[in-house]
Amino acid sequence: MSHLMPVVSTPVRRIAEKTIEVTPTTPDERDQIVQIAAETGVFSDHELETVAELLGDYYRDAETSGYHFLTHREGERVLGFAAWGPRDLSGKGYDLYWIATRPEAQRHGVARALLAAIEERVRERRGYWVWIETSDTPPYAAARGLYERCGYRPALTLPDFYKDGDGLVVYIKRVSG
Ligand SMILES: CC(C)(COP(=O)(O)OP(=O)(O)OC[C@H]1O[C@@H](n2cnc3c(N)ncnc32)[C@H](O)[C@@H]1OP(=O)(O)O)[C@@H](O)C(=O)NCCC(=O)NCCS
Repeated sequence: MSHLMPVVSTPVRRIAEKTIEVTPTTPDERDQIVQIAAETGVFSDHELETVAELLGDYYRDAETSGYHFLTHREGERVLGFAAWGPRDLSGKGYDLYWIATRPEAQRHGVARALLAAIEERVRERRGYWVWIETSDTPPYAAARGLYERCGYRPALTLPDFYKDGDGLVVYIKRVSG
């Protein structure tokens, strides 16, 4: 029996250290991305329409539009996506616009991998800062936990910024320079 042990333990270790692959979003992923954004339950109808609209801009011409999408998928199934791009009037700042993971795939490191992939791309473009705006309300607690876990610090909080009881938190991280 003992000669079987390495065969059993190797795949277990490989699963634990699995690399979460992140790739540029492709046209066939469009419907799944809009579906994931809807499934998370935190975005308004207007925000969902905006995701679809910006995806269209990205597919037409990412560099001109300034909207970039990244995806993690397993086989045909998209498990998470993120949208980012250069911040207007800033040579060194980049925005994270959206990040979302399918509810059943959450807490497996998908968003962390997406965020790391964005930071890598910002560094490649010689950018310094990633800027994230989010809400201070309970539905966004997971997002705030993610950002803080990934080294972002709350740089600004504005109570009631979106509406009464719904404030703004701006997270920033210097990723290079
Ligand atoms: C926020 C969100 C993208 C996180 O996705 P995810 O793939 O589950 O995140 P990860 O597994 O990479 O988590 C990385 C870290 O973030 C933190 N985190 C993630 N979910 C959390 C939660 N529900 N509560 C507290 N911290 C959380 C943890 O520190 C976690 O590390 P750990 O699992 O080792 O403790 C996901 O919950 C989501 O899609 N939420 C709805 C959409 C949204 O709010 N998007 C942000 C606004 S655009």
